[in-house]
Amino acid sequence: MGTYEMTLNSTRTHRRAAGHEQVDMQLFADNICKEAWKDWPNEAGADELVETIKKKGWRTSVSFAQRSDPCVGIFAKAQSMFAPSHLNNNVALHRNLPGVASEAPPGAGHRTGSSKLFLATDTSILQDINPDTLESLGSRNQSQLHPDLDGPLSCAHPQRDPKTGDLFNVNLHLGRSPTYRLFRVSASTGITDILAAVSGPDIRPAYIHSFFLTENYLILCIPSSHFHWDDAKILWERNLLDAMKSFDKSNLCRWIVVDRHGKGVVARFSTPAAFFFHSINAFEEHVCDENIERTEICMDYIHFDTTDIMLSCYYDVILNRNDAAKKYWLQDDAYERLNPRLVRQRFTLPLSRQTPREAATATGMEVFSIPNPHAGELPTMTEMGRAEAGFPIAVGLHGLHAPAVA
Ligand SMILES: [Fe+2]
Repeated sequence: MGTYEMTLNSTRTHRRAAGHEQVDMQLFADNICKEAWKDWPNEAGADELVETIKKKGWRTSVSFAQRSDPCVGIFAKAQSMFAPSHLNNNVALHRNLPGVASEAPPGAGHRTGSSKLFLATDTSILQDINPDTLESLGSRNQSQLHPDLDGPLSCAHPQRDPKTGDLFNVNLHLGRSPTYRLFRVSASTGITDILAAVSGPDIRPAYIHSFFLTENYLILCIPSSHFHWDDAKILWERNLLDAMKSFDKSNLCRWIVVDRHGKGVVARFSTPAAFFFHSINAFEEHVCDENIERTEICMDYIHFDTTDIMLSCYYDVILNRNDAAKKYWLQDDAYERLNPRLVRQRFTLPLSRQTPREAATATGMEVFSIPNPHAGELPTMTEMGRAEAGFPIAVGLHGLHAPAVA
């Protein structure tokens, strides 16, 4: 144990295999119990946001998670509920998005090949950024791409087709009948097409940070991070996390498979209740079974058994105010259920249209799992849609710092 602790807690490069999983998971637990993260302060810089907070006395825009003074929070909400700010939370940076006009001056970004630069978060708003100076140039809304994309929420991480450059994302319309609209923006024409509009009694509004793209399908997973009744709750709470329901095992993950070539929804299935921020990779495999060719889809992502990991994003936990981090990670051995896993879900597409009963009862299969710290968060790959062995890069959680997921 001592040898492994010395190595994994250092900055060297280490080769770790399945045989090390148990001892390295124990190292993660030991680091948490020893509060090793106290020596790794978190710092973040966002000048415009800090200035706004200083000026207004609180954060006026919809944020991911916020606990504010109850008096300031409640009364300021009442005053500004109907005039929400459009500050972007700067979660993901995207360049040269098709179909979205930029105010960047002619020739901007020529040295990096990024003539248009946008900041995205989990809303339908994109912030236009000068590629040379990073100055804010205003905001764009997905409804400018297509009038039906009028919902307030989206995924911070859209998908791009590596060959065509087409952009894919999801717009969530809240309210009495929550509707997910999955859409494509053509890189060659700039035209936006809605590939599917999904709603119904089993389709709940949820916080979704990313999704999956294969050669022929767009795959949306609605995890167990459900919101309360409608968008009024989010406007009132002014942040997404406080508007979320408590984790409930009966709220299964609902997967929706949409054809990229105009056939709409081709399959639905479910997996046990869980949560994820980040997809990693997705691909199709074609298998022949008794002379019948079937398509299997595989989705890799960073899986959490519950939604509890999102509570680590509160400032008091990140900053360890009044021992909040200690309570969060150690109470009831919380770190055991907060440990992420790299998971692959596999599902065989039906040969014909599913009946409503089949759609409600079909299930995916978890075919492998790699636990943290051998897999971590913020995964990336150099090329999406690879069926062969890929090498995702991620940040392992070793219990040396309080994680902040973007
Ligand atoms: Fe992210």
